[in-house]
Amino acid sequence: MRIGIIGSGGQLGSDLVAVYGEESVLRFDRPGFDVTNPTQFDFLTMGQLDYLINTSAYNEVDKAEEDLEGAFQLNAFAPARLAEFCMKEGIRFVTFSTDYVFGDPVGVQRDLPWNEMDESIPLSIYGISKYSGERMVLNRNPDAIVIRTCGLYGRARNVSRRKNFVDLMLQLAKDKRTIRVVSDQIVTPTSTWSLAGSVQELLKRHPEGGIYHMSNMGECSWYQFAQTIFQMAGYAPEVIPVTQKEYGAKARRPKYSVLSKEKIGLFGVALPSWQSALSRYLDQLISD
Ligand SMILES: NC(=O)c1ccc[n+]([C@@H]2O[C@H](COP(=O)([O-])OP(=O)(O)OC[C@H]3O[C@@H](n4cnc5c(N)ncnc54)[C@H](OP(=O)(O)O)[C@@H]3O)[C@@H](O)[C@H]2O)c1
Repeated sequence: MRIGIIGSGGQLGSDLVAVYGEESVLRFDRPGFDVTNPTQFDFLTMGQLDYLINTSAYNEVDKAEEDLEGAFQLNAFAPARLAEFCMKEGIRFVTFSTDYVFGDPVGVQRDLPWNEMDESIPLSIYGISKYSGERMVLNRNPDAIVIRTCGLYGRARNVSRRKNFVDLMLQLAKDKRTIRVVSDQIVTPTSTWSLAGSVQELLKRHPEGGIYHMSNMGECSWYQFAQTIFQMAGYAPEVIPVTQKEYGAKARRPKYSVLSKEKIGLFGVALPSWQSALSRYLDQLISD
């Protein structure tokens, strides 16, 4: 089995390489391979790939508000072109999307996990670009697999990619800073290690093309997540809960974006709880 991984130095890419093993993987990374340059796609045919897994993305949610073009190039046009290319070459294409394709239903506070059939009404340019990517990928290649996930953190091989929420909280606690964390946004933080293992499990079952939700089990606010990080890591900084509005980020995020895992459950695939995935991540940081 030959797996091509685009963005193998990123958080998820690094754990996918670890899960599949170096010997099964071909890496497609910048500067040699840039997803926004289709003239380089012929490189993808050299390794007789069974799967191409695209982890590249424009992930800077606030910056995307002022960079429509950048966000759409990476999150919509590039995956669509890759999907079309893979269809032509007989390579199974896998790419990732986000819980931010969902919005806030008018007049009610949602508290039920979203399933794959629920209507997407993204609130941000990032969410709109990822949603457009999903639609374009499946339009060009109905056999493609689009995995929506949420709140990723992991150990990227590329050190410039090491800036996730957990690492940031630990750094702020070490610096003894007062920390403001959003408490009115409910998510499921997800470790890329647990996601990568479950992606491998899902693909082994040869699922049909379409959208799949994959994140750790359970839910919490970013504030509760931060508090759990500090408890587990043995820090006691001053943490102040703030609303999204008070925090003042440029892009709007959904107040509740927990993903239902019922569909992957039908394949016998399940991720661990966010607490146990976090505990493993912190143990690994200590042993590094
Ligand atoms: N992070 C989250 O919280 C989150 C939440 C929901 C969904 N997701 C989705 O999950 C997937 C994986 O996210 P992640 O957090 O693992 O991402 P990441 O750590 O930011 O890694 C992205 C990778 O893509 C590469 N890349 C960026 N632009 C590229 C280009 N033009 N050509 C080739 N490679 C390029 C980067 O390479 P360089 O190192 O060279 O820049 C990096 O290796 C993405 O689709 C993301 O949208 C993420």
